[in-house]
Amino acid sequence: MTHTDDDVIEAAAGQVERALADTALQPEIKAFFDEETNTVSYVVHDPDTRQCAIIDSVLDYDAASGRTSHESADPILDHIRQHDLTVEWLIETHAHADHLSAAPYLQEKLGGKLAIGREIIEVQEVFGKLFNAGSDFERDGSQFDHLFTDGETFMLGRIEGMALHVPGHTPADYAIVIGNAAFIGDTLFMPDFGTARADFPGGDARVLFRSTRRLLSLPAQTRLFMCHDYKAPGRDEYAWESSVAEQRAGNVHVKEGTSEDEFVEMRTARDRTLAMPKLIMPGVQVNMRGGHLPEPEENGVSYIKIPVNTL
Ligand SMILES: [Fe+2]
Repeated sequence: MTHTDDDVIEAAAGQVERALADTALQPEIKAFFDEETNTVSYVVHDPDTRQCAIIDSVLDYDAASGRTSHESADPILDHIRQHDLTVEWLIETHAHADHLSAAPYLQEKLGGKLAIGREIIEVQEVFGKLFNAGSDFERDGSQFDHLFTDGETFMLGRIEGMALHVPGHTPADYAIVIGNAAFIGDTLFMPDFGTARADFPGGDARVLFRSTRRLLSLPAQTRLFMCHDYKAPGRDEYAWESSVAEQRAGNVHVKEGTSEDEFVEMRTARDRTLAMPKLIMPGVQVNMRGGHLPEPEENGVSYIKIPVNTL
């Protein structure tokens, strides 16, 4: 895909170029890595107005005991308080299948609007059915304060932001571009690890390839921030920042010159070998509700269901 046939990417590229040309339009970024789920959460702020966005926070969940805790979320809380930041947004790049979101916990303490892509409605449809969630589970995205559409712009203080629809891993994946930085969710991973899987319900390898092409048509110096890292053969350290130039040159799954058919064949074969993530059952059930636990039953307890022989 070239700039000329994608107006949204052209607009996003313009935003990135403006930020690259003016350091006052570049956000400050702090990453928080959860080794338990290999997830990276981010706090992104405008140094001038101190407005911030929290992206993909993690609620700790012990599957054996069914207990949640806040060891991963509390450092985010501390960072925001210590730096005197105001939370404008809590953004989920997609409904995660490998961890639970801490957005409701952080929102209760700090305020801000909880946002995800509007295609979450499709995800709620699929998983509402899978978990037989009942009619009290609204499948209209109303658990969130805001639903992004492709190309939608917003401001983080003085810094421009844009939401880019990048489906494939799930139907509702968005990349969030803030100034010259893009938080790309589960699309590309670090160049030596490749791309996200595309075999969850609603996933599609061909669609994922096209989304990676969209991201790689942003300006070469765009900073790219991953949602996960698993290290890679020959690399001992976790890493989560790359650039469009590095991904174009060296991504092991989608570097320049890779054809869509080659990618689809590789991705499909590889996905067949992958086990389901340990926390997919609780993760999806909680994240389709915007990070809220299922409604408590009449004894006041929330239950996580496990559909047997369905996934
Ligand atoms: Fe994911």
